[in-house]
Amino acid sequence: MRQKKILVTGANGQLGKSLQAVQPIFSDNCHFVFTDVDSLDITDKHALMTRVHNLKADFIVNAAAYTAVDKAESDVEKAYLLNETAVRNLAEVAESEGAFLVHISTDYVFDGHSSLPYSPDSQPNPTSVYGKSKLAGEQAILQTNCRAAIIRTQWLYSQFGNNFVKTMLRLADSKPEIKVVNDQVGCPTLALDLALFIMEVVNNDYIVKEQEIYHFADRGQISWYDFAVEIMQLAHKKCPVLPISTQEYPTAATRPNFSVFDLSKAANDFNYMIPKWNESLEKSIHKIIHNYEHNIL
Ligand SMILES: NC(=O)c1ccc[n+]([C@@H]2O[C@H](COP(=O)([O-])OP(=O)(O)OC[C@H]3O[C@@H](n4cnc5c(N)ncnc54)[C@H](OP(=O)(O)O)[C@@H]3O)[C@@H](O)[C@H]2O)c1
Repeated sequence: MRQKKILVTGANGQLGKSLQAVQPIFSDNCHFVFTDVDSLDITDKHALMTRVHNLKADFIVNAAAYTAVDKAESDVEKAYLLNETAVRNLAEVAESEGAFLVHISTDYVFDGHSSLPYSPDSQPNPTSVYGKSKLAGEQAILQTNCRAAIIRTQWLYSQFGNNFVKTMLRLADSKPEIKVVNDQVGCPTLALDLALFIMEVVNNDYIVKEQEIYHFADRGQISWYDFAVEIMQLAHKKCPVLPISTQEYPTAATRPNFSVFDLSKAANDFNYMIPKWNESLEKSIHKIIHNYEHNIL
């Protein structure tokens, strides 16, 4: 059987490293080429075209992005360069080379004013520069004719990079107490779970006829405060966690208060069992603690 050739961008980020971690599971039928900004800058369209062409890539998985949500408020040009212009480059290259594009987007395309889970058809209304730039990237893909799956996700964490779980562990070791917002609700998502779902899409791309938007997060819903409490319990940290409101924790970018996803399209189209957030946290916490304690990013 011919191997699927998969070009991954942003491979040193949290999701990129998670894709590298699951790679051995798929090595029989997939050949991966992992790149990051030093080896393939996604803002360089010529370099992208050459790489995709030479590799004869069947898939491009874009794990690269501008992800500094608060910094984006004052770094607008760079946020749009990465999250819109470069994504348009990727889609145009995918279209001309006949590659399938898997692109990752975010719950921040929604304003969070709903009280019902957001489906892929819900009306986006981003309130931050980051959210607006990510939505512009989605629209750039939809304006081309490349085959594409846009997967919106949320609240990623893992043993790789910096994320909320590692921040809580660090604060628990350095502060007498931690204050965490309890009026923002979503679902923590293990980046390895997202990586496995991406590979499900890659291995069943025939299900995506042209272009589709999917929502993928781990199952359930919880506030950041409750998530922090759960992390402390599993990590046996004694540091007290106190609930506060978003108003008491001002940030440059506004975040959606309610960003729960309706996951049924991802689950049904691929007949896919999406893990529960608490089970994923439980199974990953020891690796996360290990990497935190040994300062491994
Ligand atoms: N993290 C979350 O909670 C979350 C939530 C919802 C959606 N998402 C989306 O999920 C995706 C993956 O997020 P993540 O957490 O894995 O992000 P991440 O850890 O910030 O990784 C992004 C990667 O992109 C690389 N990159 C930056 N500029 C680049 C360029 N010009 N060319 C190629 N690579 C470049 C970065 O390299 P440097 O580090 O060297 O800059 C980094 O390795 C993103 O699309 C993000 O918007 C994330």
